[in-house]
Amino acid sequence: MNKIAVAGTGYVGLVAGVCFAEVGHQVTCVDIDENKVRLMESGVSPIYEADLEELMQKNYAAGRLHYTTDYKSAYKDADAIFIGVGTPEQPDGSANLSYIATVARQIAETVEKDCLVVVKSTVPVGTNDKVEKFIKDFLVNDVKVEVASNPEFLAQGSAVHDTLHAARIIIGTESKWAEEMLRKIYEPFNLPIVSVSRRSAEMIKYASNDFLALKISYMNDIANLCELVGADIQDVAKGMSYDERIGAKFLNAGIGYGGSCFPKDTKALEYLARQHGYELRTIKAAIDVNKDQKTMLYKKACRRLITFSGLKVAILGLTFKPGTDDLREAPSLENIPLLLDAGADIYAYDPVGIENFKKKYSEGKNGQGSIKYVESVEEALKDANVCFIFTEWGEIKAVKPEQYKKLMRTALVYDGRNIYDVEAMFKAGVEYYSIGRPYMK
Ligand code: UGA
Repeated sequence: MNKIAVAGTGYVGLVAGVCFAEVGHQVTCVDIDENKVRLMESGVSPIYEADLEELMQKNYAAGRLHYTTDYKSAYKDADAIFIGVGTPEQPDGSANLSYIATVARQIAETVEKDCLVVVKSTVPVGTNDKVEKFIKDFLVNDVKVEVASNPEFLAQGSAVHDTLHAARIIIGTESKWAEEMLRKIYEPFNLPIVSVSRRSAEMIKYASNDFLALKISYMNDIANLCELVGADIQDVAKGMSYDERIGAKFLNAGIGYGGSCFPKDTKALEYLARQHGYELRTIKAAIDVNKDQKTMLYKKACRRLITFSGLKVAILGLTFKPGTDDLREAPSLENIPLLLDAGADIYAYDPVGIENFKKKYSEGKNGQGSIKYVESVEEALKDANVCFIFTEWGEIKAVKPEQYKKLMRTALVYDGRNIYDVEAMFKAGVEYYSIGRPYMK
């Protein structure tokens, strides 16, 4: 088994570290935040992720998993150092690589034996070459350091499962030594391994994410057309899904993709293409469709209502998808400012996202409107004039059509996730608008 260090304890780094420990490696997770390290040592995960805490506690107790702020002790004799720090989007769409550069510099100044540096963070094609040169430029000891690309394909909310049961492991290396090292590290996972060049590995990550984003935007585009011509996007998707070349997944139309990955990675690839004098028209279109899609329901509601001023507006779901407390690029963040500007009194409910949302919008008067956070769906719906569903949490899906009718002052519902059967809502007396499906009156 190998001695592994992991830089960064966000979604990518922490989950990778925990899963490496789970299959038997000796793992040290490094983070600059002392409080976070103490929290993790006490068995608490800094992120909301199914199964993670359980595996953190188990592997910490077994002595295979350690946390530290002392990167020197973690890096100096590691066989492999995985980099899983953030690469946030910059205003022009490019990726900010400063966190990677900091870790690369620390590695160069610390390693005392031959070591493989593995970049897990999503980075523009060509970055791994640069990281390797950068480390070699600053290397203090006479040791061999090579850089490999090993992009991550986990989705938030099912990160541990996605890592332990990944569809494939992509390894991008430039030498047999690096390839063999990564194959050995991943051997206990018993998963298909695709071994390619570093640049191809980097591109596989973007091409995969952007393809999925494209698939969603395509379905949203078709959904909008379905509404105009009287077709039902869910039936259309069902009919399409039987074709194995299309596949059954990621065909759900809604209020657009959010999260930390698709929005960032589409813009980053588009930027990369532009830098090379190429216009990536498909991805540009996916970005455009997604932008408009996020406020599709708000626009629909504006056509139906004279004003939001003084109306009680129930918001069900704040996070960008269920199973996470992450709000990045969430449709709620696009719509709530519009509703507040329009004078709405918002009653927002989310099973886990409220604390994060409060950091952006504190409770009380906000602009022309106000916002109150409530602890149940019922509280949000009680006497509401309008309801918007932004996230398909299980407990939101469990609300029966009759409850909208019973609890709301006027049962007017805008569903961004197509949770309900159109006819069932109609029969329950709810005025129900969704995405890409006929409106029943
Ligand atoms: C995504 C990819 O699914 C992962 O494979 C990838 O590793 C990850 O990005 C990453 O690059 O780190 P994630 O952003 O966590 O994972 O979430 P997804 O489940 O893919 O959902 C992304 C967005 O697409 C959500 O807003 C979701 O609501 C939306 N979506 C998804 C749809 O609108 N329709 C669908 O059919 C599927």
